[in-house]
Amino acid sequence: MRVELTAWATELAARWLVERLPRRWTHVQGVCERLRVAGPLFSVDDVDLLAAAGLVHDIGYAPDLAVTGLHALDGARYLREVDAPERLCALVAHHSAAHLEAGLRGLADELASWADERTPVRDALWWADMTTSPTGEVVTFEERSAEIQQRYEQGDVVSTFIRVARPELVGAIERTEARLRAAGIDYV
Ligand SMILES: [Fe+2]
Repeated sequence: MRVELTAWATELAARWLVERLPRRWTHVQGVCERLRVAGPLFSVDDVDLLAAAGLVHDIGYAPDLAVTGLHALDGARYLREVDAPERLCALVAHHSAAHLEAGLRGLADELASWADERTPVRDALWWADMTTSPTGEVVTFEERSAEIQQRYEQGDVVSTFIRVARPELVGAIERTEARLRAAGIDYV
């Protein structure tokens, strides 16, 4: 496995999350573990890219980086500032149906600086994020979505978002799990 990008992203994610957001860092570790399981589906370069994306996908929650309130956008903007590869920025910008939350927050135009690549790589990142709990355990999408709705109040943008985003999120999860099953990979 090539690890150039992964090594760079590990350092970056650790810098912003380990002390400031330890719980988020635990979630990130779990997401990376999921992505390692899916690794055999992808080329060496894509495995490196996906590992990096898993590490930095939530970096926009770091208090010093949170500007707009949409963590996917704040993360992508920061990554662009530090010269991350364009594809990595775009994966982070659009992870887990962020365009729908961007719409709810009036930030759709800002997010549109990046294109959603709509590939198996992107689906795998969404799958890993949406089947990993805040504390890093493997969960079903139903459990993940119930936990998010519990954590945010009824009427909060995130709570509305997780309902609206359901078909897109489930689509990415089902496509990824079909690919994993076809490859004989045990992902549960
Ligand atoms: Fe996440």
